Amino acid sequence: AQRALEGFTRSVGKEIKKGATAQLVYVDEGAEAQLASPLHFFLSPKSAYVSGQVVRATEAGFKAAKFDWDKPLAGKKALVTGGSRGIGAAIAEVLARDGATVTVLDIPPMADDLNQVAEQIGGDTLELDITADDAPATIAAKAKEIGGYDVVVHNAGVTRDKMLGNMPEKFWDMVLNINIASQLRINEKLLADGGMGKGGRIISISSIAGIAGNLGQTNYGASKAAVIGMIDAYKDEYAEKGITINAVAPGFIETQMTAAIPFTIREAGRRMNAMNQGGQPVDVAETIAFFASPASQGLTGNVVRVCGQMLLGA
Ligand SMILES: NC(=O)c1ccc[n+]([C@@H]2O[C@H](COP(=O)([O-])OP(=O)(O)OC[C@H]3O[C@@H](n4cnc5c(N)ncnc54)[C@H](O)[C@@H]3O)[C@@H](O)[C@H]2O)c1
Repeated sequence: AQRALEGFTRSVGKEIKKGATAQLVYVDEGAEAQLASPLHFFLSPKSAYVSGQVVRATEAGFKAAKFDWDKPLAGKKALVTGGSRGIGAAIAEVLARDGATVTVLDIPPMADDLNQVAEQIGGDTLELDITADDAPATIAAKAKEIGGYDVVVHNAGVTRDKMLGNMPEKFWDMVLNINIASQLRINEKLLADGGMGKGGRIISISSIAGIAGNLGQTNYGASKAAVIGMIDAYKDEYAEKGITINAVAPGFIETQMTAAIPFTIREAGRRMNAMNQGGQPVDVAETIAFFASPASQGLTGNVVRVCGQMLLGA
């Protein structure tokens, strides 16, 4: 009966139209107090492009300190990788709006855009390739300097599409290294060095390509499915440290990444969802902010799609 609710919710989400959404929240016994955050998010316009999603609330283990729902991240420090443009820049802006001091990280050639984002939100920058050997140590040193990160958003990601038969090894390695391997190394170092403590939040960007698969994206699909694997593999160990780890899987979002898709495929991507339109970077950013909130201590190991209920995938 419990599982039936998933099929019901996902189906009703596709039926109601006119921009209405439907979500399901499972609440573990004793975790009733954790309902506030998902209700707050799912009943607000912030989740306009989120529908047919399932979230599980578990016992938080400890009570979050008092916070203001209008500035839930006041006093918190956040790191956003790939923050110079697109979804990453929107995440940085929304976290700053919610009160966080944000470090935006991107590769050195993106320095101009990176500085512009940091200036707009009163944050600081880290010019760094996350796949560099010393990247975890550089991030851990920065964390130490500012007294630790409360929120780390692994947003940096790339595509290098080719059918598997023609996939150069370097395309495979590059996508896997940026989209997943670097995250594992950074998390490990941050946690080992005290760069993130109790109440910490790790949020990683997956993709519906990692759920449904996509033509020409064996490398990207593998890396984005691996993000979901990471969430699953670490959630229990991190819960013992009071740290949550969740993933957000965007569908078709209007950015430079999707502007590069050929016109007909792009138009199909835009339309093939219950909302009949592409999403905006801010839709992904608001979902990140939902997981980053102190109210979301009981939410870990979740994957929320921001895809307007794309017909591809679940
Ligand atoms: N746009 C979409 O429709 C969509 C859909 C699903 C998932 N995503 C994911 O969302 C995230 C952001 O995508 P976007 O559309 O904003 O892309 P984008 O290309 O506009 O931005 C990605 C950013 O990551 C940075 N980056 C790449 N490699 C890096 C490295 N080695 N070190 C540091 N920074 C690096 C880039 O310089 C860039 O600023 C990615 O993980 C992407 O896979 C996007």
